[in-house]
This record gives sequence, structure tokens and C-alpha cells, in this order.
Amino acid sequence: MGETWLVTGASSGIGAVYANRLFRRGHKLILVARRADRLRALADAIISEGGEAETLAADLADEADCRMVEKRLTEGVAGLVNNAGFGYFSPFAAGDLDRHVELLRLNAEAPMRLVHAALPAMLARRSGAIVNVGSGIVFRQIPSYASYIGSKAFLTEFTTALAIDYADSGIRFQVAVPGVTRTEFSHVAAGTGYDGLRAARVMEAADFVDAALAGFDQGEVVTVPALPEAASYAAYVDARAAVGQHVTAAKPADRYRIGGEW
Ligand SMILES: NC(=O)c1ccc[n+]([C@@H]2O[C@H](COP(=O)([O-])OP(=O)(O)OC[C@H]3O[C@@H](n4cnc5c(N)ncnc54)[C@H](OP(=O)(O)O)[C@@H]3O)[C@@H](O)[C@H]2O)c1
Repeated sequence: MGETWLVTGASSGIGAVYANRLFRRGHKLILVARRADRLRALADAIISEGGEAETLAADLADEADCRMVEKRLTEGVAGLVNNAGFGYFSPFAAGDLDRHVELLRLNAEAPMRLVHAALPAMLARRSGAIVNVGSGIVFRQIPSYASYIGSKAFLTEFTTALAIDYADSGIRFQVAVPGVTRTEFSHVAAGTGYDGLRAARVMEAADFVDAALAGFDQGEVVTVPALPEAASYAAYVDARAAVGQHVTAAKPADRYRIGGEW
């Protein structure tokens, strides 16, 4: 039996598939989410097939529960999948601020805390894997998802920045980027299912995870399973870098000069 991976949001959707696939890759699992009964059922299914799985029922938007999971990570794991998350479909001002804040805690603060807890043991061993589940919405700017888009933009930039910081550490970082995927997400975010969407736009969770793991195996830091051409992401990175070369200068650009010299 291989080393231990902790998967958050393992009680449904993408996280449940990650747990299944990581078990099939020979890993032990620590399954985290709020619904203990679902976690137990998944753990029992893994154990009945000869695997090892423990459950950790926790609300990751709650600081005390999050600290409990952090503590487990400090004991050392080979891999961490920060997958738990939800969307909140609402014009920002009309929405419930507490819900926006809960979203930020779960989608951004909790992954940051868990990575911070997991890294020291990984750094000491010079090996490990951090997989953060982002969202393609970062590239699409769908209306009425401002807090969700912001949270996933954080997670994406956080992951790619860590990959640079720890390039020589032996630790792998990946942000796996789903588009619309058939899970419970849409019910939680907007109280709707996927019936109104063209089938060609909805990916099955199993296909998403299998592709994300294939991207991981290929050494990708950013994996967008639905993207037909890898070259279009490379072009996006190049365009950003071209802007990045010019974001610092001694003087502002000429178009902001209102008469005279700077
Ligand atoms: N499905 C999509 O179309 C789509 C698109 C882009 C990105 N994503 C991202 O994919 C990830 C997985 O979502 P999914 O599509 O698989 O949706 P899902 O079926 O709703 O699963 C979400 C998971 O997160 C857990 N979770 C929610 N709130 C939690 C909390 N406070 N503490 C701990 N766990 C919590 C849920 O478990 P409990 O309710 O038991 O706690 C569940 O296991 C999310 O980060 C989501 O933002 C999904």
C-alpha cells in the first residue's frame, strides 16, 4: 500500500473520484468533508476492496475544524488534494455577505492553511504533491460569480507561484481546472442541475479527474482538461509575461501624462 493522500471534499463529485483513483494508484486515503456518513460509505467501499482509508469529518470554513485537519497534515502526507469548494451565484451586493465570506474561507483560506500545514514534512522528505482544484471560470468571467471567481483566481495564482518558489524542492504543485462538470456543484451554487446545458459542454467528473491525473503525470502545473489545444494556454502565459515585463518602470506610461514632463 502506497503513501497517504488527503482529499478534501471527498463526499461527492470530483473529490470522490479523486479518492477512488488515488486508491487505485495504491495510496492510503484520508477523506475530508462535512457529511460523515458519505465519507464513511466511501471509506468502507475502499476498505472492502483491500485499500486503507480514514475519515475526518470537518467543516473547512470553520477555523477549529480546519485546524484539526491541519494537525493531521503536520504528521506528514505524500499528497494533498484541495478540492472542497462551492460556488455562490448571486449579484455581489444583493448576496449574503456571510455566504461570500464562507466561500472565501473554504475556497481560498482553507487550501492555503492546509498547504502551509502539509509543506514542512514534504520539504523535509524532498517529495510530495499538492493538487488544488481551481475553475475555468477564472478565464470566462461569468456574471454574478464575483466572489467565486476571485477565490479561484487566488487558488490558481497561489499554486503557480508556489510551483516557482519550490521548483527545486522535489514537491509537485498542480492546479486542476474544471469547466462545467456533472457533480452537486450547480445545485449548491444556483439550485439548478445541468439539464439546461448542452451535453457537449458538461464533462463527467470521472473524465475530469482522469485527465487531471494524466496532466499531473505529465508534469503540468496547470491542467485544463477541456482545452483542446495546449498551445492556447501557452499563448496566454506568453501574453501575461509580455505585460509582466512592463508593469514596473521609473515613470508612468505617456498616456497618463496630463501635460508637461513626469
Ligand atoms: N462541478 C463544476 O462544474 C465545477 C466547475 C469548476 C470548478 N469546480 C470545483 O470543483 C471542486 C469540487 O466540486 P464538485 O464539482 O465536485 O462539487 P460537489 O459535488 O458539490 O462537491 C463539493 C465537495 O466539497 C465539500 N464541501 C463543501 N463545503 C465544505 C465545507 N465547508 N467543508 C468541507 N467540505 C466541504 C462537499 O462535501 P460536504 O457537503 O459533505 O461538506 C463536497 O464533497 C470545487 O472546488 C469546485 O469549486 C467545479
